Amino acid sequence: MNRFEDKIVIVTGAASGIGRSTADRLRSEGGTVVGIDRDPVDDVDMAIQLDLLDLDAIAPTVAQIVNAYGRIDVLCNIAGIGHFARDEDETLEAWNRVIGVNLTGTFFMSQACLPHLLESQGNIVNTASTAGTHAQPWSSAYSASKGGVVALTQTMASTNGRAGLRVNCIAPGGVETEIYKQFMPPEEVDFTLMAIMEPYHRPGHASELASAFAFLASDDASFCNGIVLRVDGGTKA
Ligand SMILES: NC(=O)c1ccc[n+]([C@@H]2O[C@H](COP(=O)([O-])OP(=O)(O)OC[C@H]3O[C@@H](n4cnc5c(N)ncnc54)[C@H](O)[C@@H]3O)[C@@H](O)[C@H]2O)c1
Repeated sequence: MNRFEDKIVIVTGAASGIGRSTADRLRSEGGTVVGIDRDPVDDVDMAIQLDLLDLDAIAPTVAQIVNAYGRIDVLCNIAGIGHFARDEDETLEAWNRVIGVNLTGTFFMSQACLPHLLESQGNIVNTASTAGTHAQPWSSAYSASKGGVVALTQTMASTNGRAGLRVNCIAPGGVETEIYKQFMPPEEVDFTLMAIMEPYHRPGHASELASAFAFLASDDASFCNGIVLRVDGGTKA
């Protein structure tokens, strides 16, 4: 398949996990991929090191991409962070970091790309989580950020759909990546709550998410707008 031939695609979080795998997949289908991450990104057409918490740097970064390629066709907002914390122990700093990367970063990347995506009649694929659609214990900041991504996706899809922009999101369940390992249960909690998060069958592979990103970002999903595609092996079925 060459669904991304002649397309300029931005992937955030492209240094690791789902973002890394999605960058590979979209390149293998002919896309010219710009990988953005706070860490160095390999094996893309243009690698940009950017901390999404640095909001002032987002618009100049997008301008740099448009200067280089003249257009943007797809934005995959995949960068994300998260942690478990007892509500009693959550700090403002950690809360702001999670909301800042997952929700605020997603919105301001989208805002900076919006005029270019309207011009190309392109699309955005955001990354929510089953933590944003269903209960996940000890995850108030993370769940709020991902629930926010769902609402943001639906709102931007509705606002911009008639102008030709599609905005969708994927809600992964457990996928074996770095972030998966960072969710360590806090001490002195009811461990039976872990059962809510147990994968129904097995954890996913990043490549199984990349294929979902490729679908939604491609013209194969031309009538999908504002959807939340749950990719969790059936855990929340
Ligand atoms: N792995 C899972 O089980 C799972 C489940 C649901 C949702 N998700 C979501 O999928 C997305 C990808 O996560 P992953 O599983 O590949 O984890 P990962 O940790 O392997 O990748 C996350 C990437 O985001 C980058 N990143 C983090 N903070 C950043 C910042 N401030 N600026 C720029 N880049 C930043 C990291 O450097 C990393 O490369 C995230 O949004 C995550 O919340 C993952």
